Amino acid sequence: EFHEHPKELALASNGPFGKFDNRQVQRGLQVYKEVCAGCHSLRLVAFRDLKEIGYNDAQVKAFAGSYDNIPSINPDTGEVATRKGVASDRFPSPFANDVAARAANNNALPPDLSLMAKARHDGAAYVYSLLTGYQNQPAALLKHFPDSKTPEGLYYNPYFANLNIAMPAPITTDGQVTYLDGTKATVDQMAKDVSAFLVWTAEPKLQARHGAGIATVLFLLIFTFLAYGAYQNVWRNVK
Ligand code: HEM
Repeated sequence: EFHEHPKELALASNGPFGKFDNRQVQRGLQVYKEVCAGCHSLRLVAFRDLKEIGYNDAQVKAFAGSYDNIPSINPDTGEVATRKGVASDRFPSPFANDVAARAANNNALPPDLSLMAKARHDGAAYVYSLLTGYQNQPAALLKHFPDSKTPEGLYYNPYFANLNIAMPAPITTDGQVTYLDGTKATVDQMAKDVSAFLVWTAEPKLQARHGAGIATVLFLLIFTFLAYGAYQNVWRNVK
């Protein structure tokens, strides 16, 4: 068996008490924008949603304005055009359509990443493992299955379900991104940060859900003691 299960990934958002580490999520946004956005959209995420991870209105406006490829219709001619981004727009695909996307990617379609951390089992850990998992095809695999040689234009990655993926390793060199918060941008750090960011895009309400869960368990616990006390009280004179 050459397919591998995802590596461990400890994120602040993990577990029933998990909360987003906004600084890390912001770094992940930077990796997404500077690396992944060259091929992948986030069509379920609007720029204004970034306020939830600590940006203010002016920052959101500036970020949205850095996009000039928002699909739109020219109201005069009815033709498809592009315009600058505003806060209510979603993160667009860099490609005009799927045909153009495939043409640029050896016929493979870069999937939208909004829900990737939910779509795959162990989503965040999977993304992290996939990003850091590129390697040469094991000699043993080739020996047993000579026909399995990674085809031209595909890349061997034991975390990808069918082992050969059409995405070239996107994060390859330390310092590929210059973090605004001064964190050292190692390959491992960038892979972790973008995975943390994709947990947020997939479930922005995670923190509220965790909070509600804890309040519920606390309430039920208190209610249990109350019920037990009432039981003791009601039956206290019965032998
Ligand atoms: C697929 C993440 C950058 C092209 C994928 C998948 C993920 C992913 C999670 C899906 C794997 C699966 O189906 O299980 C990322 C991240 C990036 C990044 C986090 C930035 C750090 C890029 C870039 C390109 C690209 C820059 C284009 C040069 C593709 C393609 C696929 C893909 C073509 C489809 C692969 C296939 O089905 O064989 N990516 N990606 N990605 N990505 Fe990326």
